[in-house]
Amino acid sequence: MTSVTRQVPLSSPYIDERDEELVLEVLRSGRLSLGPAIDRFEQLFAEKVGAPYAAAVSSGTAGLHLLCRIAGLGPGDEAITSPYSFVASANCAIYEGATPVFADVDEATMNLDPAAVEAAITPRTKAVIAVDIFGYPCELDPLRELCDRHGLALVQDACEALGAEYKGRPVGSHGPSAVFAFYPNKQMTTGEGGIVTTHSEEEWRLLTSLRNQGRADGGGWLDHARLGFNYRIDDIRAALGIGQVEKLDTILELRRAAAARYAELLAGLEGVELPLADDADHVRSWFVYVVKLDRGVDRERVIDVLASHGVASSRYLPSIHLQAYMREAYGFREGMCPVSEDLSRRTLALPFFTSIGAEDQEYVAEALAQALAAA
Ligand SMILES: Cc1ncc(COP(=O)(O)O)c(C=O)c1O
Repeated sequence: MTSVTRQVPLSSPYIDERDEELVLEVLRSGRLSLGPAIDRFEQLFAEKVGAPYAAAVSSGTAGLHLLCRIAGLGPGDEAITSPYSFVASANCAIYEGATPVFADVDEATMNLDPAAVEAAITPRTKAVIAVDIFGYPCELDPLRELCDRHGLALVQDACEALGAEYKGRPVGSHGPSAVFAFYPNKQMTTGEGGIVTTHSEEEWRLLTSLRNQGRADGGGWLDHARLGFNYRIDDIRAALGIGQVEKLDTILELRRAAAARYAELLAGLEGVELPLADDADHVRSWFVYVVKLDRGVDRERVIDVLASHGVASSRYLPSIHLQAYMREAYGFREGMCPVSEDLSRRTLALPFFTSIGAEDQEYVAEALAQALAAA
């Protein structure tokens, strides 16, 4: 491998003619928002994850915010969440004036450690926001048990975990309200978009009101029962969502096969640890392919060498509590969550998407081997 023969992106959406047809249908129908494509999308999605109700929203972040509002979070309250996540899983509590509290993660699963969550509970704690990071399901039962015992709301940030299974049933079907996200790097996409699944009809009604400027069920366009938001998805994106849900099984299978191929290609490579394998209770939905570099490997050098071969990679994920705005607002510092911080220094996302081909993956594996030899 002497010159750049390929460019392998980090991610790429998986769109086909059926998606195009469904979007065109909506464009030609004249019903661009608050139309039937949204109802259909919600219905299909709810069935897919085994939840009785789903409310589509403009983004995963919007869905998380609505659940924090419904949980009644406010100034003086604390919400415990994972530092090893995307910022939205902490920001959603801050939007309601609550203070984020970070409990450390488990080194193997990279998800919240229930014992650390329990230790972080104070009289001010009102909610736990648990994340299924990189599509690996979080420890839902222990977290539920401790939330019930302490009277806390549990919000599941499943934005990366569509298709994952916990204890033999899909994430979304277990009871806690869950949020899924559809940015183009996700398993399925609507461009921008998200959805909240819930097992409560009352909560679903509230979600559909809050996302729609607080309009009441059956009320007029200019009747607002409560303070709401414009967190609506539109029918164009919902139509794309329908096409994506229709082929979700195929998408998940292709991603599973791609992950298995990486596992084969990278087996035995010195200097990297591959993603945690599934077990009886946890079946991952493949969102990204993140490896852990051994301590002592120069990650920046690895990234540079990969880039010189046209292979994209990314430092997934920085610890949220160490982001500049978090340090400034709350005085968070290194050492608060040592497991997360250690992971943040050495994890690396490799190119991964539904249509990635064997040749691209072989090329990535070869480039990574060269990068590790140089780092
Ligand atoms: C764990 C997690 N939470 C929340 C979000 C927010 O989703 P969105 O980008 O749709 O607002 C994302 C997506 O990037 C995510 O990965």
